[in-house]
Amino acid sequence: MTTILAISNRKGGSGKSTTSVNLAAECGARGRRTLLVDLDTQGHAGLGFGIVPKRDAPTAHHVFTSPDFDLQAAIRPTAFAGVSVAPADQLFDGSTALDRSVSALQRCLRSPEIAARFDLVILDTPPSLDMILVNALAAADGVLVPMIPHALSAEGVRQLARLFFRIATTVNSDLRVVGLLPVMLNVHTNHHRETMQDIAREFGIERVLTGIRTDIRLAEAFAVRKPIRDYAPSSRGTTDYGLLTDELTAFWQADAAPAPHAAS
Ligand SMILES: Nc1ncnc2c1ncn2[C@@H]1O[C@H](COP(=O)(O)OP(=O)(O)O)[C@@H](O)[C@H]1O
Ligand SMILES: [Mg+2]
Repeated sequence: MTTILAISNRKGGSGKSTTSVNLAAECGARGRRTLLVDLDTQGHAGLGFGIVPKRDAPTAHHVFTSPDFDLQAAIRPTAFAGVSVAPADQLFDGSTALDRSVSALQRCLRSPEIAARFDLVILDTPPSLDMILVNALAAADGVLVPMIPHALSAEGVRQLARLFFRIATTVNSDLRVVGLLPVMLNVHTNHHRETMQDIAREFGIERVLTGIRTDIRLAEAFAVRKPIRDYAPSSRGTTDYGLLTDELTAFWQADAAPAPHAAS
């Protein structure tokens, strides 16, 4: 079954697009057929793979503006192993959306065609609390929350948590928190350590992932439109996104395994 993972935080600049691009690249390189759907009109996730749609080309946002849109029309191959991208429409205006239901995206992503083509779908989401973010959480199996370990980012996580509970108790009871991911992490900074301790107390230590250290090469990689594993294979960023992929793979394997004492 295709796993759908939303990368979300209500705060901008919290590493959502960087994580979407580099996690997609790592999963694709490991043989997991991966589709990255760029739902943020800034278009950063597509740009990170060098994909910019031509004017009037189909995009991920057409799901909301064209009735019966086939998402396959927006999917583009990338130059990187195992990764395809459905880019964002940078001109999308939410007020023109014809399908404002919470399940518009889910209908497209849960199609037999997507199930046959992809093992993993990653959704890069906008920070604004709008129907796109709600659609992403309604369609996803899990949400991964990148956050800079600062007090203000922690507030963005709390805001997302409120939305998460609303969606998980109404339209998507399968939605899980896959993890809270500290990014731009400096373990020697007291404030970073203290913020992550607060987050662990509040949300559960088992939900806090190891994290991504500060590495300027991640910003450089974006500038040349490549994932970090291709731009700087021996960098900290490559190591850390590799470890994140190991942690998520373990999470998904544990999730798929039958409960140890389940009645037969
Ligand atoms: N671990 C990191 N080390 C250094 N810079 C980073 C790191 N993660 C992200 N960045 C930079 O921080 C900025 C914001 O990240 P981005 O992924 O675009 O956030 P968002 O998508 O949440 O707005 C970008 O300039 C990006 O290159
Ligand atoms: Mg972004």
